[in-house]
Amino acid sequence: MRILVTGGAGFIGSSFVRYVLQTQKSVEVVNFDLLTYAGNLRNLDDVASSPRYSFVRGEALPNKCGKERTALPG
Ligand SMILES: NC(=O)c1ccc[n+]([C@@H]2O[C@H](COP(=O)([O-])OP(=O)(O)OC[C@H]3O[C@@H](n4cnc5c(N)ncnc54)[C@H](O)[C@@H]3O)[C@@H](O)[C@H]2O)c1
Repeated sequence: MRILVTGGAGFIGSSFVRYVLQTQKSVEVVNFDLLTYAGNLRNLDDVASSPRYSFVRGEALPNKCGKERTALPG
């Protein structure tokens, strides 16, 4: 199984990525992060060379459905 973790270079996300890689030996983790001021790939130096870990820089955005829900009157 492969899972996508958004914000994986942040405080909580990096701990989650590390936890999954250490405890779920058949799981691959794709870390999808924008690397804002809060993101730092050094948080994951210890797992960066794992063949079950990869990083993709990108921005998670609200989907169309989410925008429509936000626009609905209260
Ligand atoms: N040393 C500490 O105790 C410490 C350090 C940092 C944070 N915190 C606490 O942790 C909590 C927040 O932690 P967190 O890990 O949720 O947040 P975070 O701000 O630490 O990390 C968020 C991550 O998401 C990424 N990101 C932001 N917007 C994105 C987008 N649109 N698409 C993709 N990636 C995006 C950022 O680059 C970053 O890596 C807060 O309560 C904060 O106070 C504590």
